[in-house]
Formats: sequence, C-alpha cells, structure tokens
Amino acid sequence: MKIAIIGTGYVGLVTGACFASKGHDVICVDVIEEKVSKINEGIAPIYEEGLDELLKELVPKKKLKATLNAKDAVMLSELIIICVGTPSKDEAIFDYTYLEEATKNVGLALKESDDYKVVVIKSTCSPGTTLNLIKPILEETSGKESGEDFGLGFNPEFLREGVAVEDFLNPDRIVIGGIDERSIKSIRTVFEDFDSPILEVDPTTAEMIKITSNSFLAMKISFINEIANITEKIGSDIQDVAKGMGLDHRISDKFLRAGLGWGGSCFPKDISALYHQSKEVGVPSKLLESTIAANKKQPLRAVEILKSALEDRSFEGKKIVILGLAFKPDTDDMRDAVSIPIINHLLDKDAIIYATDPIAIENAKGYLDHSNLHFVKDPAEALEDADACILVTEWKKFALLTPKIFAESMKTPILIDGRRFFDPAKMRAEGVIYYGIGLGK
Ligand code: UDX
Repeated sequence: MKIAIIGTGYVGLVTGACFASKGHDVICVDVIEEKVSKINEGIAPIYEEGLDELLKELVPKKKLKATLNAKDAVMLSELIIICVGTPSKDEAIFDYTYLEEATKNVGLALKESDDYKVVVIKSTCSPGTTLNLIKPILEETSGKESGEDFGLGFNPEFLREGVAVEDFLNPDRIVIGGIDERSIKSIRTVFEDFDSPILEVDPTTAEMIKITSNSFLAMKISFINEIANITEKIGSDIQDVAKGMGLDHRISDKFLRAGLGWGGSCFPKDISALYHQSKEVGVPSKLLESTIAANKKQPLRAVEILKSALEDRSFEGKKIVILGLAFKPDTDDMRDAVSIPIINHLLDKDAIIYATDPIAIENAKGYLDHSNLHFVKDPAEALEDADACILVTEWKKFALLTPKIFAESMKTPILIDGRRFFDPAKMRAEGVIYYGIGLGK
C-alpha cells in the first residue's frame, strides 16, 4: 500500500519505517528541512533502538523517503497517517495547533484528488476529536464528504520510547477506530501480517482506549508507589509485595515497579487531559485526580527520606549527587522527568547538586539552570566527597558503581535508591547507608 506519514517524531518515523519494512511504500512528511534531509540520507533524526538500521536498509531500497511537500505525499498515497505532536496546553488540555494545521493541509490535497483515500489519526487526542474536530476540518478544506469521498479513522499507538520499533512490530493489540466499514477495511489492510488481535471500534472508542490505557498504567504505578510508602514505614519490602501481587494473572507484574513517580511525554498529559474531560462532562473522576496528586508528591519522597538521613536535617551547602536525569532509562527525553522537581527542591534549600546522566545532560540544561547545579559526565567523579546521593533514573550503566565506590569516595555514603536499582544487602555490607523506596529498615 502507498502510505503518507505526516510528522516524523518518534511515533511517525517508527510507524513509517515499520510499515516500509512490511513492504509498503512510505513517504514521510515533515516541516523541518534538516529532518527530511537526514531521513533521505538513511539517518534517523531521533534516537530510537533499531530505527537507524531500518532507515539504512529501507531508504536505499526506495521503500521509504521523506519530503517537505505534504500535498505531493497525500496525492501519491492511499492511506494518510497523521502523527504530529499534541503537547499539553495549560497542563490540562491537548494543544491541537499542529494537528489542525496538518489536517488542513491533508484536506487541501484531498480537494485536488479524484481518488478515495483514508485519513488516519495517530496523534493522541481527547475522545471525540476525530469526529468533532478532524472530520469538519477535512470536509471544509476538501469540499468533500467523509464516508463518501474519503475514509477516516483513529488508530492509537502504544509505543514506549526506547522500544518503539519492537512495540510497533509486536503489539499486544491493534485498535482500529473507523467512521465506517470501508475505512476500517482499508486500515486493516496494513496490519494484515501482524500476529496480534485486532479490535474494530468507532473513532471515539479508539481514542478512549488509548487515553484510558495510559491513565490506567499511570494509576497502577501510583498505587504501588503509595503502597511502597506504607511498606517503608511498617517494615516490609515493596518488591516482594509487588512480586506476590503480580503473580496473580488478573493483576500482572507489569508496571508494578515502585519508584519516584512517572513522567515522559505521554502519561502526564494523557491523564491530565482525561481528568479535565471528566470534569467537563460533569463526572469528575476522583481516581484520576488522586493519581495526578499522588504523582506530584512522589518525587519528594526521596527528599523526605534524605532529610531524615542527614544528621543535622539540613541540605544547606551539602553536595548531593543525582544519578539519572531522563524520565526513564535509554532515552534523553526530559519531559516531565521527576529529576526536575527533586533538583529544584534541593536547590531551593541551598544544596549543591552534581547531576549525571549517560545521554540526557544536554537536554536537561534546557530544563534546569542554577549556579549551584553542576552537570558531570562521570558518575564516579560526581560521587567524590559527596554528602549524599539519590538514584533517580535506573540506567544500567550505574551498575558499574560498586558499593566500594560509594563507601570510599563519598564523604558520608548516604544512598537513596529511588528505583530499587542496587542490592541493599551488598551496599550495607560495605558500609553504605542505604535507603530504598518501599524498603523497611
Ligand atoms: C508510555 C506507554 O507505555 C506507551 O504505551 C504510550 O503509548 C506512551 O507512553 P513511555 O512514556 O515511553 O510509554 O514510557 P513507559 O516505559 O511507559 O514509562 C512511563 C513512566 O513510568 C516512566 O517515568 C517510568 O519510569 C515509569 N514507570 C514505569 C514506573 O515508575 N514504574 C513502572 O513499573 C513502569
């Protein structure tokens, strides 16, 4: 099938590359010239495991190319997938500026075409957006009728950053929300050789499935985080509790890792948007509200634990090391990373911060700036003479920091393990004053 992908962020480019790897002819559209040139050279403009390899293979074979010209791409394609960003506006609602712009361009191209084409929205949006915003824009700009002259649908993505290619090619499920049978049938064609259950629904239900899946996962993490705060006090270990719970298939052990909270480009904005919508339609969700509030507090658990561990209970002038800045390992993404509130809180209390991350330091500079904040590449060097250390992001590379390094380089070897990454027994055996989230003393 001939496919146009509008927007080459991690969702758009992964979608394009994966469909091209399945034999389809893909044209990716972006407004940034540099991105387009890079893609056409076979280089991924973003880091995503396996993506570079796919581009290197598929661009020379002419299965995938990029262009600045949306109209040409739409004219040449049967399926047009819109994957532009919908960042959050005022913390609670999606900003549809890019989505509206992209939709208008697609509509204008449809006007010029005599062929039946199907427009698919992949950008995350509030339930109802495809029918109430996208459909009218397409009909107005094209002068055509949806269902009659062109098809329309919503096909959510469930891609985790860092493993997006793997997630795309092996999805737990494929959800197709189409306005009619014909649209659904066309969208289904591109998923023919996927070995996953396919659910056919209307666009609003598909949008709801996407946003509620992310909200549920965020709520699941916040639940285990709150239980971790209890286990710390009553002297049991959250890891064993989560393991015992997760063995029940109805619960499952996925997304049950307690820590300092969830961040990233999806969970925070999706759950806030759903909560906002619940209020708008007159049924405010208490669970969503509490989950958002719990996650706001959770990063500061690390600060509370550290305060109680310091002899004078003061952060003033203390050298505190932050291990990990990105919102999760294997990405340089700093959006809603929990490192930000932790570092800002400690800086407010006059601590001196030495922060390290394998790849997110450059991005972090756009979010954090203070004369008492130092970014250090080498974690072992950061630990020298430190008063305390907080592990915020569980990068595998930090496993090179042995208990001996903490015990011998730090002034006082206080370690707050915000992700239960290190082995408490080994740390304590070496004299490290170890505190783990959800671990009673
Ligand atoms: C998420 C969804 O998983 C994906 O399906 C969706 O389409 C996009 O949003 P992503 O944001 O890449 O993916 O990250 P994910 O791996 O889901 O982690 C989200 C956050 O939850 C991270 O901050 C992570 O550290 C945290 N997390 C995850 C936990 O604290 N505990 C867990 O058990 C799992």
